[in-house]
Amino acid sequence: MVKARKYVANKDFQGVPKREDFDLVEYELPPLKEGEFLVKAEWISVDPYLRFLNSKIPAPYDQFGFQIGTVQESRNPSYPVGTQVVTHEGWCDYSNAKETDDPLAKVYKLPDLQGLPTELALGVIGMPGVTAYFGFLEICQPKAGETVVVTGAAGAVGSVVGQIAKIKGCRVIGLAGSDDKVQWLEKDLGFDKAINYKTADIHKALAEAAPNGIDCYFDNVGGEISSIIIGKMNQYGRVAACGSISAYNEDPTKMPKATVLQPTIILKELKIEGFHVSRWSQPKDRWPEAFSDLVQWIKNGQIEVRSHVTEGFDNIYDAFIGMLAGENTGKAVVKI
Ligand SMILES: NC(=O)c1ccc[n+]([C@@H]2O[C@H](COP(=O)([O-])OP(=O)(O)OC[C@H]3O[C@@H](n4cnc5c(N)ncnc54)[C@H](OP(=O)(O)O)[C@@H]3O)[C@@H](O)[C@H]2O)c1
Repeated sequence: MVKARKYVANKDFQGVPKREDFDLVEYELPPLKEGEFLVKAEWISVDPYLRFLNSKIPAPYDQFGFQIGTVQESRNPSYPVGTQVVTHEGWCDYSNAKETDDPLAKVYKLPDLQGLPTELALGVIGMPGVTAYFGFLEICQPKAGETVVVTGAAGAVGSVVGQIAKIKGCRVIGLAGSDDKVQWLEKDLGFDKAINYKTADIHKALAEAAPNGIDCYFDNVGGEISSIIIGKMNQYGRVAACGSISAYNEDPTKMPKATVLQPTIILKELKIEGFHVSRWSQPKDRWPEAFSDLVQWIKNGQIEVRSHVTEGFDNIYDAFIGMLAGENTGKAVVKI
C-alpha cells in the first residue's frame, strides 16, 4: 500500500483563498486497476484557473491541476516504470493515474524537451504555452507590422504571447504589475514597450506607446484595463479573451463594472473571441504542434523562459497565493 498526501479544497473560497480552505489529507492509495499507473509527483503547477473554477465546482473536491511525475508501478504497457508523465492529478504526491478523453484533464508522456528543464512541461511546453500559441496565432491572426497588446505580460501565458508576437514581426506592448517585470519584458524579452499598470496612467502610456492604435489584444486580465485597451483598437481589431484574473477573487454575484464597450466594438468592427485551451485537444490533439515550434524557438534563443520555483509539497498553498498576488515572473511551479 502506498501512503499518499493530497490537498482537498473544502469550501467555496471567499475572496483570496485561505489556508484553512484546504485540508491536507493523508491516505492509502488503492491497488492499481488495469490501465492505471502509480505516479510520484516531481513538479506541481499552480495556475489562475484553479481559483476561477472553484466557484463552478461543488466543494469538497481534490485540488486538480497539472503535475509532472515518474511512473513507479504500472498496469499499463504504454506507461512502463520510469516513464515521465504529465497528469492532471493536482496537488498530491502520489496518484493512480490513467489515460482519459477529458480534454481538461489530459494525461500524456512528457514531450521531447530536447534537454530543456523538465518543469517547462508545466509552462511554455505545457498548457500555458499551448494557450499562448494557438490563442494568439489563431484568434488574433497577427500580421507583421501590427501593434499587439498583452496583459499579464510577465506571466506564464503573457510572456510567451509577447515573444511569439515579436517572432511574427509585430510591435509589442505588455502590461505587468511591477517595475522589475517591466524591466524583464523590455530588456530580456524584447518587448517594444512595457507598462506598470499599477503606477502608470494607462490611457497616456498607451497613447504614447501605440500612437497608431492597437490591432490585436491578448486579454489575460479583463476588467477596466481591458476596456481602456479595447477602446484604443483599430478598425477590424482582434481580441483573444483568454482570462479575467482581475475578477477571480471577486464575489461572482457582485462582479465589478467596467466601461461599456459596445459602441467601440460596433464602430471599429472588432472581433472578440473567448476560448479554452482544450479547444485544441479535440477532435485532434494539436498540442504537440505547439510544443514542437515552442521548443525550437527556445533553443534558437527566440523565446526566453523563466520559472518561479517554490520548494516543497507543504508550500503549494503559498505558491498558489503568491502567484495570484503577482509574485511570479514567468511560470509559477512547485518542486516536490
Ligand atoms: N482560456 C484558457 O484556456 C486559459 C489557459 C491558461 C490561462 N488562462 C488565463 O490566462 C491568464 C494568465 O494565466 P497564467 O497562467 O499565465 O498566470 P500568470 O500570468 O503566470 O500569473 C498570474 C498573474 O496575474 C497577474 N494579476 C493578478 N491579479 C491581477 C489583477 N487584479 N489585475 C491584473 N493582473 C493581475 C499577476 O501579475 P502582475 O504582477 O502583472 O499583476 C500574476 O503574476 C489568467 O487569467 C488565466 O486564467 C486561460
